[in-house]
Amino acid sequence: MRASMTGLMPVLSFPSMGLRIVRVADPVELGRIAADLVVETLGARGSAAFVAATGATPMPVYADLAARARDGSFDASTLRAFQLDEYVGISRTDRRSLTAWFDRSVAAPLGIDDERAVRFDGMADLVEGCRRYDAVAAGGLDLAILGLGPNGHLGFNEPPTGPRAPTRVVHLTPASVRSNARYWGSEDDVPRRAITAGMAQLLSAGRVLLLVTGPHKRDILDAVLHGPVSDDVPASHLRRHPDVVVIADVAALPP
Ligand code: GLP
Repeated sequence: MRASMTGLMPVLSFPSMGLRIVRVADPVELGRIAADLVVETLGARGSAAFVAATGATPMPVYADLAARARDGSFDASTLRAFQLDEYVGISRTDRRSLTAWFDRSVAAPLGIDDERAVRFDGMADLVEGCRRYDAVAAGGLDLAILGLGPNGHLGFNEPPTGPRAPTRVVHLTPASVRSNARYWGSEDDVPRRAITAGMAQLLSAGRVLLLVTGPHKRDILDAVLHGPVSDDVPASHLRRHPDVVVIADVAALPP
């Protein structure tokens, strides 16, 4: 069954007017339903722009979209894709860089060429890179596909971050270092600084898709949805956004 905003899978509650929650059984179902929403949001708009998180959570979505691109049911080649974040001091030729991850999971499988991909360069002039990113994003973002950090971050908008924070260089909190250690081998290997798309840019997207899976995200998702809207839980600012769809599996959002 395909999901659409008129026929979504079970919508559970409305913690704010613009926020819908969809509970799914597992990451595979998450991938299918989220991909339906991506196609619905971007498919009919040839030059639409979207932000694409890396991290483990959205991988089933990109795999589903890539399958649709292969069978011809989704043409992403004219879309513009924005990378979400990157570590400072890591080259894009390093497999562990988020640029390399973005390229192999989003840009390449969806056929988005270099001219239409907006990337960070963790080795270049960081201030200029942030300025350029925000200048391009000001042209309009139609969709942001985001994961949720264990401390409530979006991208690397670490707590405390307010809704107007621009794209910038940040220091990672211990919680982010810990949660990313699995991608680096050990905590000591995780870079301590990163570049992140700003909260202002993410909140400017026409629609936000927040994807959450696993029991380790249960408490922070509860805080995002039901705690105070606060800079201490940056993702809680999504509750002031007019069009957010949270897709969470039963492990992250128990019945
Ligand atoms: C990471 C990244 C985010 C990502 C989030 C969740 O630290 N900065 O871009 O969305 O945390 O990652 P995962 O989906 O692997 O749990």
